Amino acid sequence: MTGQPPIASEAFKQFERDKFSLVAQGYDRAIAQITSQVDEAILDAVEAGYGKQLLDVACGTGWLSAAAVSRQAIVTGLDYADNMVAIARLRCPEAEFQIGDAENLPFESERFEAVVCSLGILHFPNPERAIAESFRVLKPGGRYAFTCWTPPARNPFMSLILGSVQTHGNMEVDLPLGPPLFRFGETVECKRVLSSEGFTSVSVTELPIKWTFSTPQDVMPKVVVSTARLGSILVMQTEEQRHNIENAIIEGAKKYVTESGLEIPASVVLAVGHKP
Ligand SMILES: C[S@@+](CC[C@H](N)C(=O)[O-])C[C@H]1O[C@@H](n2cnc3c(N)ncnc32)[C@H](O)[C@@H]1O
Repeated sequence: MTGQPPIASEAFKQFERDKFSLVAQGYDRAIAQITSQVDEAILDAVEAGYGKQLLDVACGTGWLSAAAVSRQAIVTGLDYADNMVAIARLRCPEAEFQIGDAENLPFESERFEAVVCSLGILHFPNPERAIAESFRVLKPGGRYAFTCWTPPARNPFMSLILGSVQTHGNMEVDLPLGPPLFRFGETVECKRVLSSEGFTSVSVTELPIKWTFSTPQDVMPKVVVSTARLGSILVMQTEEQRHNIENAIIEGAKKYVTESGLEIPASVVLAVGHKP
């Protein structure tokens, strides 16, 4: 149990769809190259390879789908935000992309041999339903893998952004209530939910990721133009709060300056299950 009030699912889904459509270009330029650092590990986990029917849920701008196509898998990508899908189609014409909801997959049962979902699970108001849908469309013997950000205590990037808002601003801005960002950053929760939806041989590992920027001054503007919830939380502060948050982010980021720019460490959990 998460202990938070019920989520207005449709309002939250609409917020996500509209916001990701708005930031699609920014996401593709700034974030997709970061999330794609774990693409090969995700594809290894589901044994993506020649001729395998693979579904990429919440495919975003198509980087993971393209990596699966490079392994000669037969790839279908699905995302709720039309502008994300438009970029995915340009990036990877070899895959088939559809606009759709992870919680109501528009596919017949037992169609795919592998289902992947990179950093989508924290965007679904009813993640159990999304996991059940992925289970349904998998063939017996198929594999499912998703990733989620680890919580701020183990994730310096998230700690820097959210810690700066908590200290200098207000986390309770007027956004549709969404699912907890870091619920599936916990091994125990991943194992519990995957097992209860029918998956076996469940395994959970943690993988490092680096957020790269040119300078500490780049961090907040990039997050604002390329993310949905984080960017909205930053934009919806008062001018004074925003100013103080930005200064705190710049100060906190300075310790991650390298010879080639700025590298802020982070990590994701990779959860994998088999359909018996
Ligand atoms: C953080 S992005 C991840 C994109 C991509 N998988 C990656 O790793 O870069 C989250 C994606 O989830 C999509 N999304 C949010 N809610 C969704 C839903 N209910 N069904 C399908 N996609 C959804 C968003 O449009 C966005 O493209």
